[in-house]
Parts: sequence; C-alpha cells; structure tokens
Amino acid sequence: MGYIGSCVSGQLRRAFPDAVLTGYDIGYFAHCLTGAAVLPETCLDQQYFGDMREINPGLLKGVDAVVHLAAISNDPMGNSFEKVTKDINDESSARLARFARAAGVRRFVFASSCSMYGFAEGGPRKEDDALNPLTAYARSKVATENVLRELATEDFIVTSLRFATACGMSDRLRLDLVLNDFVAGAVASQQITILSDGTPWRPLIHIEDMARAIEWAIQRGLSSGGAFLAVNTGSNGWNYQVKDLANAVAKSIPDVSVSINKNAQPDKRSYQVDFSLFKKLAPHHQPQVDLTSAIQGLKKGLQEMGFADGNFRNSQFMRLKVLTRFRECGVLDEQLRWAQRQSTLSGAAGQKAWP
Ligand SMILES: NC(=O)c1ccc[n+]([C@@H]2O[C@H](COP(=O)([O-])OP(=O)(O)OC[C@H]3O[C@@H](n4cnc5c(N)ncnc54)[C@H](O)[C@@H]3O)[C@@H](O)[C@H]2O)c1
Repeated sequence: MGYIGSCVSGQLRRAFPDAVLTGYDIGYFAHCLTGAAVLPETCLDQQYFGDMREINPGLLKGVDAVVHLAAISNDPMGNSFEKVTKDINDESSARLARFARAAGVRRFVFASSCSMYGFAEGGPRKEDDALNPLTAYARSKVATENVLRELATEDFIVTSLRFATACGMSDRLRLDLVLNDFVAGAVASQQITILSDGTPWRPLIHIEDMARAIEWAIQRGLSSGGAFLAVNTGSNGWNYQVKDLANAVAKSIPDVSVSINKNAQPDKRSYQVDFSLFKKLAPHHQPQVDLTSAIQGLKKGLQEMGFADGNFRNSQFMRLKVLTRFRECGVLDEQLRWAQRQSTLSGAAGQKAWP
C-alpha cells in the first residue's frame, strides 16, 4: 500500500491473471491516495493490515513467491527513526525470509537500493564493487542482503533488486523523490529548487519498470544468476546528475525556472551505477519508459489531481511528514506502532489538518 506497491499490484495482476495475490501492509500511507479512481488493492484477492514485526508465519503457507517491499523507505525517515528502521527493514526482513523458506516459498524478491553505494567515485558501480552505505536506511539494505545471501538455496531462489531511485506517477504518489519533486515544483509554481549544488549523480528508474523487473524476478530460474542474485536494477542511460534532471523538467514544461543552491554543503550521496548485468540477465524485462515520458506522465497526473501546492515539501506527499504528524498526534507510538488501533484514528489525525 505504498508508492511502488500500488503500481506493482496492477502489473502482477496483468502478468498473472489467475494467481492469488495477497497484500500485507501496516498502512502508514494507505490514506495518501493521489487521484486514484479505484483503490489499487482491489486488484488483489486479499489485503491484510499488519505489522511486519509481528507477521504470522501461517500466512506464508501455500505461497509461491514473496515480493518484499515493506520498509521505512528513505534516508530522512531512517535518520529520524533509526532504531525502528533497523527493526523493520533489517531484522523483520530477515525473519520474513526465514519464515518464507520454512513455509516452502520458492521465490523471494527483495526491494534493495543502489543507495548502498553511497558516495562512489571512479565510474559506475558494479554489483561486486565495494559498498559504502552512509545512512541507517542504506545500512539496513546491506544487512538484509547479507542474511538473504545465506538463506538462498536452489529451492528458495532470492533476487535482491538494487533499485535506482524511483520516479513516476502512482496512486500513492511520493514527492520526496528527486524527479517527482522537480515536476511538482514546476507544475505548482513554475519553479524548481535544487537543494544541493546539482552535481550529485543519481540513477533513476520509472515505477512501471520496477514492476516489470519484479515480474522477471518472481520467475527467475537458477540458470540466470544462481540461488542468490543481487542485481543493479535500472538502465545505463538513466544515470543523471541532479541538475540535468532539473533542466530536463524545465525543458518539458514551459516557463519554469531552475534555482541551484550554490552554497549547499556537498551532497555525500552520489553514485553512478552499471546496469549491464540486469540487461544481460533480463533482456525481455528491460526499462521502457524514457525521461521525457516520465516527466510528462507526472505532469499529467498532477494536473489531473488539480495539484497547485507550492508548499508540497511540507505536505502529506512526503513520507517523513506523514509519520512525524502521526507521532505528534499520538496516533503512532515511538516504535511506529499504531497507538490506538481502533476508534480514534480519524479523530486524532483530523484535529490537525494538512496545510
Ligand atoms: N522509492 C524509491 O526510490 C526506492 C528505491 C529503491 C528501493 N526502494 C524500496 O522499495 C520499497 C518500497 O518503497 P516505496 O517507495 O513504495 O515506499 P513507501 O514508503 O511508499 O512504501 C513502503 C510501504 O511499507 C509499509 N510498511 C512500513 N513498515 C511496515 C511494517 N512494519 N509492516 C508492514 N508494512 C510496513 C508502509 O506502510 C508502506 O506502505 C522499499 O523497501 C524501499 O526501500 C524504493
């Protein structure tokens, strides 16, 4: 029930029309629907609300494949909720994988991240290059991969998709992602504000292409990558510097100005990534969306929502803002567990409307 999951559900339903698809999510952002005419989960057979930290292993009985997306999903949240990030992203992922293997699940797909390369000079990073995770979030992805590597067998095939940074329109849009932020600024106020000096490298991937990669990983055989595979997931053509992304948005949307913060502290996260292995192993599931289409898709989606909030960096399109607001209202406790599971959720959250 997150940004990527809302897109993946539809892709899996189209790819496997007769499969029984089950969702599982704590629902932090379930209410953050962005222009969806229909709840995205209606294409699933069932949807559980539950916490990964307390998942019932019985749910995995009879399951063929697990696509594991649930996480505290970026650096700012990881910095604010470091211990919880470790519990959910790393320890609960390891437990889930053990439960899955014990239950006879045959494929396990993990949403990992290229952010584990951190700051990397000297050309695009390959899968066996040294990792340099700089944040709690990135460290959680490394730790999970290390456990998954040990658990994988020929009967429990594990694919860790080291995704580039996501972009694109979703039924649960996030605007705390670089390209989405730029398009939102352009649509709302004809202005793109780059918070860094614009030089960091950031590979991107469209969420529809992430879903395509997941579809591949669910079916991956031993002969294409072995029992455990960690693979950079994106395309070599999508390694951009942040300022190039801003300029591409300004070129696609008329009358938009770009401002760069020349005094910004250097962004420590900068990496180019080599996606050749993914191209070799998954020739029929390669990214298809180009940058111009991604920008146009976001623009169209935002316009259809009537989006005009120049202050969106303080809105519920930012994952950290949602969690922080829930904490302030007492709806989530300090472990980010629902404090009041039943009655008062809408009352408590409703008292502090979004600006
Ligand atoms: N968005 C990106 O650029 C990107 C890039 C690389 C990897 N990833 C990974 O892809 C996955 C999905 O990312 P997203 O962008 O959709 O993020 P998101 O924050 O929109 O979605 C994450 C989902 O996980 C759920 N969740 C969190 N803690 C949970 C718990 N304890 N129990 C059950 N559910 C829980 C949330 O409710 C949310 O629906 C994450 O693992 C993320 O690290 C994302």
